[in-house]
Amino acid sequence: MNQYLINGGQRLEGCITVGGSKNASLPLLAASLLGEGESTLHNIPQLSDVQHMVEVLESLGAKTYSDGDALTIEAQTITGVSISENSMRQMRASNLFLGPLLARLGMARIPLPGGCRIGSRPMDQHLKGLAALGVDIIERHGYIEAKSAGMRGADIYFDVPSVGATENLMMAAVAAEGTTVLRNAAREPEIVDLQNMLNAMGAQIAGAGTSMIRVNGRRPLHGTTYTVVPDRIEAGTHMLAAVMTQGDLEINDVVPEHMSPVIAKIKQCGAEVSVKGNSVRVRHVGGIKPMEIKTMSYPGFPTDMQPQFLALMTLADGTSVMTETIFENRFQHVDELRRMGAKIIVEGRSAIIHGVKKLEGAFVEASDLRAGAALFLAALAAEEASVLRNIDYIFRGYERLEEKYQAVGAKVQRMI
Ligand code: UD1
Repeated sequence: MNQYLINGGQRLEGCITVGGSKNASLPLLAASLLGEGESTLHNIPQLSDVQHMVEVLESLGAKTYSDGDALTIEAQTITGVSISENSMRQMRASNLFLGPLLARLGMARIPLPGGCRIGSRPMDQHLKGLAALGVDIIERHGYIEAKSAGMRGADIYFDVPSVGATENLMMAAVAAEGTTVLRNAAREPEIVDLQNMLNAMGAQIAGAGTSMIRVNGRRPLHGTTYTVVPDRIEAGTHMLAAVMTQGDLEINDVVPEHMSPVIAKIKQCGAEVSVKGNSVRVRHVGGIKPMEIKTMSYPGFPTDMQPQFLALMTLADGTSVMTETIFENRFQHVDELRRMGAKIIVEGRSAIIHGVKKLEGAFVEASDLRAGAALFLAALAAEEASVLRNIDYIFRGYERLEEKYQAVGAKVQRMI
């Protein structure tokens, strides 16, 4: 079993460089299918989710070549339209191939994603949007079979601002005749990144980053070269590591505007934050003030930082409240944090966290990617040794984690 032995209680100090965004890389890799030429993506993080996405691309007939943090995708000939059950089980973001396959070949067959550990994760908004573009959709034997003889632009209103549905619809709409308008679209920076790459491929899309996106379709798309934005969730996790270990970290290759809700909360807890260009320095000064946080769609507080902030709150000087509004089952880290001495009560969608003076080392288990990150932070802050199990979850979203943390003074070792 892959696990970390972490001897906590070390003050972290130094510089950490953030890699390319996982949640931007996945749709950009899917979008590479839309251009008949070759696309090269730079700043691609080395993560298991990225590797899964590459395997799907190859299973569809694309050829890929990697060179350091660059990945070239040659999508001259696409031979498959079907995503395997196994790919979807390994990574739900495999559903991001639905839009590009419809745009490129007029058909796609993908497994219904089913539930996952943090919530039910439906796809109704993706399917509603595609149907409005004229796609015929049949759900049978656990698969979505989508087909279109020619998509037409439409005016689509999302009932919830879904990141994946917004991305899938942008990628389908580039092949639709006329104009598509997406309303109540998700506004995440990763969606702006997708717009920028698609426009570099020859698409005409405007409005990403706002709740209304306009796509003028049916323009010929070609390959391109594009650099992925830095990962704002990785950056936020490092910022909390500075606070929780009473440390001082300079986090480089950050887009500070993408971090505003996270930086605001880190300042509110009493840490010192200074921003200089693409670098953010976070310094623990004094105690950790309790606070209230509610997760929201961007530019609200990100659900992907909820578990890590909840870990921080366990060490606050008082009682904090964390409310999760995006996913219905995203408190699985709570029981593990309790094993480390945290005092947390969950009531419905809120967790009430009574801060303790210190966390104790323990055997703990990651239940998903960000829950794993939260336990990693808690183990760094705890005074004794901890063993963190199931760290394969963490490698879905954090590259070279132990290397980056050893370099700033953490005592973390991988045990196989
Ligand atoms: C993306 C991110 C994930 C993040 C999430 C929310 C990627 C690869 N993953 O996931 O890390 O936690 O955004 O910021 O970018 N919903 C529906 N119907 C739909 C689609 C979604 O009701 O058809 C609901 C979901 O249940 C959830 C909310 O919308 O409550 C947001 O989900 P969504 O933005 O779609 O998340 P993902 O794109 O799957």
